[in-house]
Amino acid sequence: TSNQMWGGRFAAGPDAIMEAINASIGFDKRLAAQDIVGSRAHAAMLAATGIVSDSDAEAMREGLLTVLSEIERGEFAFSTALEDIHMNVEARLKELIGEPAGRLHTGRSRNDQVATDFKLWVRDQLDATEGALRSLMRALLAQAEAGADWVMPGFTHLQTAQPVTWGHHMMAYVEMFGRDLSRVRDARARMNECPLGAAALAGTSFPIDREMTARELGFDRPSANSLDAVSDRDFALEFLSAASICAMHLSRFAEELVIWSSAQFRFVTLSDRFSTGSSIMPQKKNPDAAELIRAKIGRIFGANVALMTVMKGLPLTYSKDMQEDKEQVFDAADNLMLALAAMDGMVRDMSANREALAAAAGSGFSTATDLADWLVRVLGLPFREAHHVTGTLVALAEKQGCDLPDLTLEQMQEVHNGIDRTIFDVLGVENSVASRTSYGGTAPVQVRAQIARWKEMLG
Ligand code: ARG
Repeated sequence: TSNQMWGGRFAAGPDAIMEAINASIGFDKRLAAQDIVGSRAHAAMLAATGIVSDSDAEAMREGLLTVLSEIERGEFAFSTALEDIHMNVEARLKELIGEPAGRLHTGRSRNDQVATDFKLWVRDQLDATEGALRSLMRALLAQAEAGADWVMPGFTHLQTAQPVTWGHHMMAYVEMFGRDLSRVRDARARMNECPLGAAALAGTSFPIDREMTARELGFDRPSANSLDAVSDRDFALEFLSAASICAMHLSRFAEELVIWSSAQFRFVTLSDRFSTGSSIMPQKKNPDAAELIRAKIGRIFGANVALMTVMKGLPLTYSKDMQEDKEQVFDAADNLMLALAAMDGMVRDMSANREALAAAAGSGFSTATDLADWLVRVLGLPFREAHHVTGTLVALAEKQGCDLPDLTLEQMQEVHNGIDRTIFDVLGVENSVASRTSYGGTAPVQVRAQIARWKEMLG
């Protein structure tokens, strides 16, 4: 038998394979609440404009609530033959209220309906992402506050570069997640235009009130061009690209936690709650949550590329290709939320090992730059020459198997006879860190200023 929603011109029903490739109900049932909210707003508008009677609209709105509660209670029988959530809901409404259900689709199409439903879903997801980011940032702030002046090595090329503070390192991630937060908010502001009423593509001859439905659904305004309204998936792509950048940040941090929790580094101890053991090696405590964050990020990047690729060749307006938008976004959103929550938990629970951080901070000639700066400041050497002298001292220390502060004054003076005892003041990591007071620098005063600024911004 032909389809009850569009089968008028069809003599035969679809092949089973056609039904399988065409159906989206398996995944777009996640849009049920949005579909029903959208339909209720549409029904109210149809009555307010006199397109349907008040009693019909009331029956639709009541019936839709019944459908929603059936779905929420798990009592709804989803049908693949009815393709998608839109037709499943409408068909059930017909069973419940009869003839008035057939008037609900007046002045709209599944094309503006699905764009509206999906926008509502993505908008909620942007809000949820914002909440998760704020929580993670608070966890990082707490870590930064606890260790605002704890010294640790700063790295470039993963080689010891200069001493920094633990608080400074934590606050670097607060900056990154803060930009992610602002991207999410930008995306939300830009996407908040309502496609409902664009109908199939050209608008409608019914005297609909698009301002009313837009307002009802929390949009700032109706979208301005009906062709664009049903073709646009920028909002999903912006979510996926903001999600990808955020995921990239999570992955970098996860990578650091994997390295830092190793026996060779011992910078952090992850809690038992966010670690796993080995079934053969009894000593093991593995950073699986960090590893899985690092790995799951690939799915989010993949979703972004997949949907970009779906969209890039489509002529205006709607093509069925666009039905492929949802699974990508759902999967990316689920994994982003999981990764954010796991990182949040790990950061809240982990403890930084102050002694191990301090021991590492002083090794690897981390104050060589301070030494070179001293030669410039005190002896007036050009920086290039100071760099060369310092390099010679580093090579000497390396040969002796010691660190820079372990060289004797005599050994240093053999390399440059202007050096005096005050040079040892700048070779300590605490002094090194405290001296970097430039705006945004690693000195604890600067780090505390960064913390205070973010605390105020996060409220
Ligand atoms: N299930 C479809 C989707 O997700 C709904 C829109 C279908 N519109 C159409 N003209 N076939 O994109």
